[in-house]
Amino acid sequence: MLYSILYVLVILLELLFALGFSIYTFFLIYSNLKGSPYVPTKMKEARMILEQAKLKPNQLFLELGSGDGRLSRLAAKDYKVNSIGIDVNPLLNWYARLWARWLKIPRVTFLTQNIFQTDLRKADVLYLFLMPKLIEKLKLKMEKELKKNSLVISHGFKVLGWEAKCFKTLNHRPFPTYYYRV
Ligand SMILES: C[S@@+](CC[C@H](N)C(=O)[O-])C[C@H]1O[C@@H](n2cnc3c(N)ncnc32)[C@H](O)[C@@H]1O
Repeated sequence: MLYSILYVLVILLELLFALGFSIYTFFLIYSNLKGSPYVPTKMKEARMILEQAKLKPNQLFLELGSGDGRLSRLAAKDYKVNSIGIDVNPLLNWYARLWARWLKIPRVTFLTQNIFQTDLRKADVLYLFLMPKLIEKLKLKMEKELKKNSLVISHGFKVLGWEAKCFKTLNHRPFPTYYYRV
């Protein structure tokens, strides 16, 4: 009898694991299809990137494609900015919110949204870690909507055509980081 119960429990656990893994894989593919795979910025790099950004309290920090939300959380916690993380992947947003709640970090919100539906007009600082094709598509929107003097930080890839706006580059591996004053 005990063996039968254990057997059923093991089967149930295996099914649960397979279901969780399938959901996770599905959403990873979904992120990819929407333009950029989920690859988090390394924590050590995230700290350096934010330190170099010279953020000021109460600025609006907008992260386009926020993944697990680490940059938005770190910015809100260490620099007292108001962070908004935007990601098309609801699973990642759920995880990001869970961490923010667990760590009791105020001033951070995560929205499930396509970055092309996001209003950029109020942003003081924009953080991107997106594929070049997506950045290229986003460039016109940033040029139209961003207010004067806003800061765009692009981790991983350059914003092509913005060479004159680039005032700082962090050459760390595997990905460099580019700072633009728009
Ligand atoms: C390379 S990850 C960066 C994650 C996070 N910013 C970081 O640096 O740790 C890119 C993220 O963009 C999201 N993404 C891809 N296409 C998107 C779109 N069209 N709209 C919103 N988010 C998108 C993916 O779900 C993924 O989480």
